[in-house]
Amino acid sequence: MSETLRVIAERYSCRDFEGKPVEREKLDLIAAAAVQSPSGSNRQPWEIVILTDKTLIDEMDAEGMAVLSEQEDKSVYERFMERGGKLYYNAPCMFLILQRPGREMDTGIVSENISLAAAALGLGNCICGMARLSFDSKKGDAYKKHVGMDGEYEFGVAVLVGYAKTQKAPHDPDMSKVRYL
Ligand SMILES: Cc1cc2nc3c(=O)[nH]c(=O)nc-3n(C[C@H](O)[C@H](O)[C@H](O)COP(=O)(O)O)c2cc1C
Repeated sequence: MSETLRVIAERYSCRDFEGKPVEREKLDLIAAAAVQSPSGSNRQPWEIVILTDKTLIDEMDAEGMAVLSEQEDKSVYERFMERGGKLYYNAPCMFLILQRPGREMDTGIVSENISLAAAALGLGNCICGMARLSFDSKKGDAYKKHVGMDGEYEFGVAVLVGYAKTQKAPHDPDMSKVRYL
């Protein structure tokens, strides 16, 4: 099997990180893979902000969890509490993808490039749409200012990256979703 296909087949969403920092050289390689992503008309409608301040990430985690706890439907909050009460699973690094409004497709491709690059380097990773909650929190405006989410760019998605404390098997591929005509 080719190395690329092996990485795709073995990638999984990590939900338990060691928390120790990731070497800058590895983050640089992942960042390069992010900006190598294809985009419609090569518009590259994104900005990639790499957060490595674990204290800030942990604070954003707590703020996001507070938003969840205040939602009328408590089921998601309870699920996260059962998983250890952390939105970001102790990740030491967050690749935050900011997008121009409406460019979800491009953002999705960038997030997969980041995820696969991290996996290829032996790093755990998890695409994290819930990161939006931190920017909806009481401190959300300060976080938006800090990362440069200024109206031209909005929240796209985040990818958590770090060394996995617990590894997981990839999900079972469901080939019944595929049809040849
Ligand atoms: C757009 C998107 C948003 C996601 N958001 C979250 C999230 O906020 N938290 C989380 O734990 N996983 C999140 N995931 C990971 C999915 O839950 C995961 O990909 C799915 O359960 C399949 O598992 P696997 O990635 O291990 O194969 C997200 C995945 C995608 C593609």
